[in-house]
Amino acid sequence: MYLKVLVTGATGQLGLALLKQLKNTDYNVKITSRRKLENFNFEWVYSDLLTGEGLKEAVNDVDVIIHAATSPRKDSDMIDVSGLKELLDISQGVKHFIYPSIVGIEDIPMKYYRNKYQAEELLKNSSVPHTIVRATQFHSFVENLFLSKSLFKRYLVPGDIKFQSVDVDEFAANLIQMIEQIPKGKTEDFGGPEILTLREMAELKIKINNEPKKVVSLSFPGKLYRALLNGKNTNSHRKVGKVTLEEFLIAKVN
Ligand SMILES: NC(=O)c1ccc[n+]([C@@H]2O[C@H](COP(=O)([O-])OP(=O)(O)OC[C@H]3O[C@@H](n4cnc5c(N)ncnc54)[C@H](OP(=O)(O)O)[C@@H]3O)[C@@H](O)[C@H]2O)c1
Repeated sequence: MYLKVLVTGATGQLGLALLKQLKNTDYNVKITSRRKLENFNFEWVYSDLLTGEGLKEAVNDVDVIIHAATSPRKDSDMIDVSGLKELLDISQGVKHFIYPSIVGIEDIPMKYYRNKYQAEELLKNSSVPHTIVRATQFHSFVENLFLSKSLFKRYLVPGDIKFQSVDVDEFAANLIQMIEQIPKGKTEDFGGPEILTLREMAELKIKINNEPKKVVSLSFPGKLYRALLNGKNTNSHRKVGKVTLEEFLIAKVN
């Protein structure tokens, strides 16, 4: 019998990357989210981590969970902490609970990251066999957040802060190969292949897209800015991903 794998947050960036690859495996895949996906033939269950609706049905009969549901918005504590707690309470029979997290969360003062850290603590203290895998920010995430809009042909960015962005498909592949591994508690970070400042990232985008634009670098006061300036969201010892931001941007153009 093939393992039954539940993917939560199936409609998200990571969720979709997981599904694209899981459809080429022999796993019996079940997916859950609030919105229904049309393009995949997997068994789908509606569930909401805010209200608990549908969670039991989603977890029922699965061997492995890859928990890619999250909410970086204001209800993050309800989804990422309370919602995870409820999910863990009903996941006692699960063989492996795989949890994607983020590099440096204990050193970056943001509410969402504090919630992710609390979520990791919940997992550590639970009896559900699990593996926590931290990744750096996805290429698409950094691009959408900082490089999707320009003003008067200028990218206004906090140019000195650093990212080690990583390809979401590579991270998804890394999570999938863990499905049959023994739960490890926590693994080494999964970082992108290079650490670049946001100014360098914006200049790359301008070059690749041949945009008549300039980069204007801004600096900000505060602990969050300082943490990112000091590269707390990066891990120079774990440049594991292969696909660079440049390759990601070129692939988008072609
Ligand atoms: N983005 C990054 O750069 C990055 C980097 C490292 C690690 N990670 C981690 O990777 C994981 C996935 O991130 P992502 O960027 O793929 O997230 P995302 O694109 O924002 O997707 C979030 C998913 O969560 C689901 N969701 C939201 N609220 C929900 C609720 N109340 N109940 C049930 N499902 C809900 C959404 O589906 P519906 O709205 O359809 O329900 C969606 O599928 C997270 O744990 C994140 O911390 C992300």
